[in-house]
Amino acid sequence: MALIIDGKKISSEIKDELKDKVSALKKDGIEITLAVVQVGNDPASSVYVGNKKKACEYIGINSLSYELPEETTEEELLKLVEELNQNVKVNGILVQLPLPKHINEDKVIETISPIKDVDGFHPQSVGRLSIGQKGFVSCTPAGIIQLLKRSGITIEGKECVVIGRSNIVGKPMSMLLLRENGTVTICHSKTKNLKEVAKRADILIVAIGKPQFINKEYVKEGAVVIDVGMHRDENNKLCGDVDFNDVVDHVSAITPVPGGVGPMTIAMLMNNCVESLELNK
Ligand code: GUN
Repeated sequence: MALIIDGKKISSEIKDELKDKVSALKKDGIEITLAVVQVGNDPASSVYVGNKKKACEYIGINSLSYELPEETTEEELLKLVEELNQNVKVNGILVQLPLPKHINEDKVIETISPIKDVDGFHPQSVGRLSIGQKGFVSCTPAGIIQLLKRSGITIEGKECVVIGRSNIVGKPMSMLLLRENGTVTICHSKTKNLKEVAKRADILIVAIGKPQFINKEYVKEGAVVIDVGMHRDENNKLCGDVDFNDVVDHVSAITPVPGGVGPMTIAMLMNNCVESLELNK
């Protein structure tokens, strides 16, 4: 029987640990504040932002909310980010992506002070991760490492295959697995013989962006499968990049969708907010 990795439970444990830490800090007069910026009212972004603010409230982190209209100019947004950089009461800054087309996302990310970059998207955070220095780590891949560790799955010495090379998931995921002494292969849309390469994996991380694409032909017997995808199937039911039912009896552990990787992202954002106290120094 495969272990179904319960991301909801693990994320709750992490949030409860953080809640205790934050409450102890408060007793010493230390507060943490996250600034959350949303431009426009993309419905999916509004749900994510709402969940981030709820998590802050649960843990005891203050959140400052900036809901800007779709027509906000790049200059106006950059000015707000600069103000938040200067505000000593603000520990973390999160600008929800995607931004409207007329705003250059890279420019906005680069304007966020690296010591407040709780998303881990700033080039300095990415660079630090790649050379093994302390810094903020992108939340979804950091959450996947926690899922593995807290499920008793060893990474060291394992063949890890990451399908997907995005800046938010695939690339930082690969760096983190390498940091944990995994042997890492990164696959992408131009990879030849994807099935054969994926089948080498002891730990297969799937962030390919195609609903139920990975079936058991891609998976070695007894592998651990982590599914980063989130889609709706033809019956409007949530599903991942992995065909869960096809793969489940073939693996030693697997994350479900929903309830696997998803809940970990916010838990790790909260963790980064708490870590910001160290990294702000
Ligand atoms: N949009 C989708 N995921 C994320 C995330 O993790 N951070 C931000 N800032 N925007 C997102």
